[in-house]
Amino acid sequence: MSSATPAEPTGGSAPAARPRVLSGIQPTSDTIHLGNYLGAVRQWASLQEEFEPFFFIANQHAITVEHDPKKLLERTYRSVAQLLAAGVDPARSAIFVQSQVPEHSQLAWVLECLTGFGEARRMTQFKDKSAKVGEGAVSVGLLTYPMLMAADILLYRPQYVPVGEDQRQHLELTRDLAQRFNHRFKKTFRLPEAYIPKSTAKIMDLQEPRAKMSKSASSPSGLIDVLDDPKITAKKIRSAVTDSDTVVRFDEENKPGIANLLRIHSALSGEEIPALEERYAGQGYGQFKKDLADVVVDFVAPFRERTLALLDDRAHLQQVMAKGADQARAVASRTLADVYDRVGFVAPPPERR
Ligand code: TYM
Repeated sequence: MSSATPAEPTGGSAPAARPRVLSGIQPTSDTIHLGNYLGAVRQWASLQEEFEPFFFIANQHAITVEHDPKKLLERTYRSVAQLLAAGVDPARSAIFVQSQVPEHSQLAWVLECLTGFGEARRMTQFKDKSAKVGEGAVSVGLLTYPMLMAADILLYRPQYVPVGEDQRQHLELTRDLAQRFNHRFKKTFRLPEAYIPKSTAKIMDLQEPRAKMSKSASSPSGLIDVLDDPKITAKKIRSAVTDSDTVVRFDEENKPGIANLLRIHSALSGEEIPALEERYAGQGYGQFKKDLADVVVDFVAPFRERTLALLDDRAHLQQVMAKGADQARAVASRTLADVYDRVGFVAPPPERR
């Protein structure tokens, strides 16, 4: 968890009975990968008790790069189904799709006008992608991506934003923009904290254990796609890159492959890493990987079954999205009304208030 102290909730809306959590995932793949699950989605399910949760599918972020509309639509459904399969419960959490809540784009515009052009260009994601293909080949949407993400968050005045390590810079910009707005106009936004449990903050690629597991990985064998055929998943685990040593020991610096596998094992089995080191002392890597493959399959196989069953009932998924969008709009519209008032926009006509 980040060390920042949350500010008191401020602004016109009544404080929530329970502090809020909010997070999002892009529907850019047919299946979430193990990094998405362990780094983020699993926390979403476990935070539902204590917090008032808002979780959404970031389909507007997904069009900042070239996309196929049919796939985007299908992946939006698949993402909702996977959240449900992971235990995110629509009776307890608002589960919604970003484009169904227009306040996200509306607040993003205001935040874009508070962000320096140089500040936006320096964000790692834009810098890296534009360095790869050239600034002429990336969209303005990629440049303004972080301001849309800040809007996603600030609209709900959450206390925590559970994400993986790769989102930390976006969270920092969000806090800067919230502070800037509060300072320039009137205290409106709560400063959200990143919620990043250290042990699963960065799950690494199985073939390149010094790079994070990512959907844009250079080779599919480094990526555990949760909805893949479990047999393929087991094979990928068994052929994960390790090192020329034989001791199962947690040493991120010198043995990044084994360290990553230990983290995955511990996260899914609940066994502490030192206990695993002890159990595999003198056994070599073969047995450890074989057992880990079983642990991972025990998780992915039922997850896959649940997701595929949920995907058979589109009407249910649509109901979940519709209910979530209503819950989200009820909160987001109040924050946006405060923002519009504070920046000096005329109030909307009475029938729309
Ligand atoms: P996205 O869709 O890339 O990833 C979803 C979540 O998965 C986490 N994650 C990982 N965690 C650990 N190890 C990994 N290898 C790994 N890979 C991905 C990500 O950190 C993320 O939490 N910009 C966001 C989506 C977004 C969002 C938001 C998130 C849009 N608006 C508002 C929070 C709040 C993204 O692209 O996540």
